[in-house]
Amino acid sequence: MFKLSNAPLINAQQIDKRLESLAQELKASDFDVILSALTGSYIFTADISRRIAKPNLQIAFIKASSYGDSTESQGKVKISGIENLDIKGKRILIVDDILDTGNTMFSIVKTLTGLGPASIKACVLLNKESRRTVDYHADFVGFEIENKFVVGYGLDYANDYRTLPEIWTLEEV
Ligand code: IMP
Ligand code: MG
Repeated sequence: MFKLSNAPLINAQQIDKRLESLAQELKASDFDVILSALTGSYIFTADISRRIAKPNLQIAFIKASSYGDSTESQGKVKISGIENLDIKGKRILIVDDILDTGNTMFSIVKTLTGLGPASIKACVLLNKESRRTVDYHADFVGFEIENKFVVGYGLDYANDYRTLPEIWTLEEV
């Protein structure tokens, strides 16, 4: 059984403030396509993309799943939605919710590399550096967090909690 922590780990105002500065960092880099890794990044993608706001910045979605209904990574990553992606020669910014073991991002980057983009960079809202098992580091990070399972602002546990506007820690009871 799990329950939410008593107070949010990161509240909506803190998210807003960080997104403003993160968007400035991202604006300084040029990208052709934001490639959002669903489902966890759906809110972050909407909020950050409209802050970058460039007329020629395109958006595309893939789906990467690794977790099932568990709080532990399953290690295997399933990527769907790349069939119709046209990213050859384009500068790609992958947007994901969280870097945990790094398996998901590593697989996404490997898969995309095969499609011949000009460049690939990655932006994640949250980074759990201490959990990394593969040598992968994001180019842009919203918040560094401890090794705790978090939900809200798009992130789920068994598909629950995604619509909460803040980021909460999920505690085992
Ligand atoms: P990784 O492959 O271990 O880096 O895990 C990345 C994916 O696992 C993320 O895209 C999330 O979907 C999920 N994930 C990892 N940590 C958490 C967490 O604390 N809360 C919710 N989902 C998580
Ligand atoms: Mg995810």
